[in-house]
Amino acid sequence: RHRILSGMQPSADSLHLGNYLGALVNWVRMQDEYDAIFFIPDLHAITVPQDPAELARRTRVTAAQYIAGGVDVDKCTLFVQSQVPEHAQLAWVLNCITGFGEASRMTQFKDKALRQGSEYASVGLFTYPILQAADILLYQPHGVPVGEDQRQHVELSRDLAARFNTRFGNTFTVPEPFIQKESAKIYDLQLPTAKMSKSAESPNGLINLLDDPKVIAKRIKSAVTDAETDIRFDRETKPGVSNLLTIYSAITGQTVDQLVAAYEGKMYGHLKVDLAEVVTERLTPIRDRANELLADPAELDRLLALGADKARAIASATLADVYAKTGFLPYA
Ligand code: TYM
Repeated sequence: RHRILSGMQPSADSLHLGNYLGALVNWVRMQDEYDAIFFIPDLHAITVPQDPAELARRTRVTAAQYIAGGVDVDKCTLFVQSQVPEHAQLAWVLNCITGFGEASRMTQFKDKALRQGSEYASVGLFTYPILQAADILLYQPHGVPVGEDQRQHVELSRDLAARFNTRFGNTFTVPEPFIQKESAKIYDLQLPTAKMSKSAESPNGLINLLDDPKVIAKRIKSAVTDAETDIRFDRETKPGVSNLLTIYSAITGQTVDQLVAAYEGKMYGHLKVDLAEVVTERLTPIRDRANELLADPAELDRLLALGADKARAIASATLADVYAKTGFLPYA
């Protein structure tokens, strides 16, 4: 079976609907078909300041949501990045074959650094994509399922794999970006031209997996629409309504065309009430299961430690090969 690998940052109290519909749902689908590896990139999270107790909590909360959302630890490998030291070790080697100019062209760094003021941005944030390349290349995956926003980072990992292979001999699989074209890109409910993101300006634009159903209903009800009344899909002139239709379609499996036909002559209010219902119906069992898992953190930690052992078995073999080819002495 081909191998795939992906991860989501533990940088909020809950995953949002964009992470869920844009990524997690696909992961769950793929774990039956592929040798799947999913992890929680906590090393990436500290590229911006984190409160230590919060980071620990958010790492467990993210793991609980992966599992509650359908990631099955018996079918795939699920682990926390910092528990597999090979990530940081390979990242160093890759840092040393990446050009400064090449790293400077990573657009996500530019966006994030700009937001913080570039003087305050950490060097870790700058080399973030190289750590991501290490995450990927350690496991020799065939594909990396991510959203469009991560394409450039996967491209960098391809460039670095090819470069290392040319210089030191064949070592890494050159991974393919699996950009989920058909999967939903979810936008902010208050600002439907911006993608739903944990760094949203207002929490009202977000639907979080762990939100109370009342909060979800309220946020959907107050979602920004437009001054017209007809329910149509048009990303340009009706981004708000189009986003609601996308979410509806992604959750129920009905096509947007079917939904538009079903809502002909109805008002935005009808669509919102129904959408709130299908969203909470889907998310309530996930929230309950996540809370159950979080009630027993020792058991959750045990599952993650088992995942880290499985991951290390693969990662350590790749790293040993890289170290030997680089010219580092064997550790007797
Ligand atoms: P992150 O944590 O920003 O996002 C995780 C995944 O969710 C997708 N996504 C969305 N999809 C649809 N609509 C949205 N509004 C939305 N917001 C986010 C992202 O495309 C992504 O697939 N750098 C990575 C984490 C990472 C990683 C890796 C991923 C670290 N190492 C190795 C793959 C392989 C990140 O910050 O993703």
